[in-house]
Amino acid sequence: MSETAETEKKGWRERLAALKNIPPVLKLVWQSSPALTGTALACRVLIALVPVGALWVGKMIIDTVVGTLKNGGAFPQQIWLLLGAEFALTGIASILNRASDYANARIADQFTREVSLRIMRHAAKLDLASFEDPVFYDKLERARVQATDRVGLLSALGQLMQQVITLISLAVGVIIFSPVIFLLLLVTVVPAFLGESHFAFLGYTLAYSLTPLRRELDYLRVLGTSKESAKEVKVFGLGEYLRQRFDSIQGELITRNRRLQKKRLWVGALLALVSSAGYYGAYAYLVFRTLSGHLSVGDLTFLAGALMGCSSQLQQIFSTFTGIADQALFLTDLLTFFAVKPKIRSKPNALPAPRPIREGFEFRKVCFEYPGTKRIILNNVNFRLNQGERIALVGANGQGKTTFVKLMARLYEPTSGRILLDGVDLRDYKLEDLQREIGVIFQDFMRYDMTARENIGVGRIDQLKNEPQLRAAAEKSKAIELIDRFPDGLEQMLGRRFEGGLDLSGGEWQKFALARAYMRDAQVLILDEPTAALDAMAEYEVFRRFAELTSDRMAVMISHRFSTVRMTDRIVVLEDGTIREQGTHDQLVARGGRYAEMFELQAANYR
Ligand SMILES: Nc1ncnc2c1ncn2[C@@H]1O[C@H](COP(=O)(O)OP(=O)(O)OP(=O)(O)O)[C@@H](O)[C@H]1O
Ligand SMILES: [Mg+2]
Repeated sequence: MSETAETEKKGWRERLAALKNIPPVLKLVWQSSPALTGTALACRVLIALVPVGALWVGKMIIDTVVGTLKNGGAFPQQIWLLLGAEFALTGIASILNRASDYANARIADQFTREVSLRIMRHAAKLDLASFEDPVFYDKLERARVQATDRVGLLSALGQLMQQVITLISLAVGVIIFSPVIFLLLLVTVVPAFLGESHFAFLGYTLAYSLTPLRRELDYLRVLGTSKESAKEVKVFGLGEYLRQRFDSIQGELITRNRRLQKKRLWVGALLALVSSAGYYGAYAYLVFRTLSGHLSVGDLTFLAGALMGCSSQLQQIFSTFTGIADQALFLTDLLTFFAVKPKIRSKPNALPAPRPIREGFEFRKVCFEYPGTKRIILNNVNFRLNQGERIALVGANGQGKTTFVKLMARLYEPTSGRILLDGVDLRDYKLEDLQREIGVIFQDFMRYDMTARENIGVGRIDQLKNEPQLRAAAEKSKAIELIDRFPDGLEQMLGRRFEGGLDLSGGEWQKFALARAYMRDAQVLILDEPTAALDAMAEYEVFRRFAELTSDRMAVMISHRFSTVRMTDRIVVLEDGTIREQGTHDQLVARGGRYAEMFELQAANYR
């Protein structure tokens, strides 16, 4: 019992604390469209006053009618005026409602756009390590949903204001007559409010804890229905397995939601009964006072209407308010996402990257473990890459070749030790500057579902329109032959995602990835297994060009093919976190070490 009380209390504290998320959001809304927000607010205020006005006019109509009937006399001409006023009030209210809906819809669009842009802008700044962390991924997911789902918050805030104004206007009427009745109403509505908010909070906690499950569900859905997985799913006959897993997770989600909804149903109904009892108690009292001659029939209708209005406004205000408090909790997710700061960024007064590079790279006692893991990937590595040198990194799977490259490009930082470029720590250079000088194509390069032009142009996005340069890069990577064959040339849509898209083979995609590297005017080119999917002829051709292109630059090449590797100036063998041996192909073969062993093994297969 004390445990539930504890969570409840904590829940309240959290929720009230979350309300402070609202002002920054309101500021954002106001700044993005002051005119629209002003219009929406004005509409709300006017709409809010309609109910009390309509009730008051209604009371006058009834009193006029009852008075005329009782006392006889001429037809009361002012009744026309009153009826007209009643009609005008409803008409005005419905026009204002539409105007306010229109303004709200436009505000929501602006808000979604602004928040989505901010999320993208922020995500682009974050460390690679963040994206490789599942906890962060949940955060990103929740934040992304916020962009569209939090739109409800804005209209809820407007609604709250409207409800409060309506309540005050009605309450003033009731309080003038009898403050006690108003109090009675208030007291009986409170339990319903507490229940409402309690369940809303439980709903939030549940949604929060279910995020990983939902993510898994989405993943399974994609696996079961996407083109990328279709081949394997068919060949391995995974359809049934995926369906079952999907279904069992879906089942768990449904069960947990249902349990909550059931409880909410019963408790909610009971509390609603309590507030109804409050209202009818007050109503009975009014009827009694009217019969005893203390109130006119018009007073009775006005007060009964005002009471009913107060009661329903109170309930609505409470539920709108809890809704807002919950939405504000979700905003916390958005704000924590924005609060994740990249660790890898430029220092103040960072240096520009050297151009030209004079000495090259140096690893000094570099150790590296991936954050949150214990395995040492690089252990005390000392290494130099001299200006103008072309080297190959070789080693078995998982020995850290790709990791090595990520460190050079400062996508990660060493756990200890230093990496220097021209004698200066990489951390002292401007990050964007440094990365501009390094052209990397990773083994899991992107296949953009965009045009051929964009697939090459992303290598240097400011040259997207520079056709000669795009073509020259495509020439070097041999992608040009494909482009010339495409019906739409450079404007050919690639990939199967969008209409008219043309899918490519693995090797063909790779030619586009290579072209991106050639787009860059980088001083260091790094290719992580760039030719793994190329046929022998294409590979030979690519290498001839690569050698030409890199004659005056530094290059790092990762490959499992010895025909490729032997063309470089120096071969570095990575094993067990250290550099096991290095030298030219001939030196290493003569040495009879690990490299010679691997080379023999591969060569033997070709004999
Ligand atoms: N983001 C990551 N988080 C945790 N561990 C990782 C991460 N990326 C790679 N590793 C681990 O680090 C080790 C080295 O990986 P790396 O990708 O550098 O190997 P590699 O030499 O490039 O292998 P391959 O020849 O298969 O491409 C692997 O054991 C891998 O499991
Ligand atoms: Mg690798």
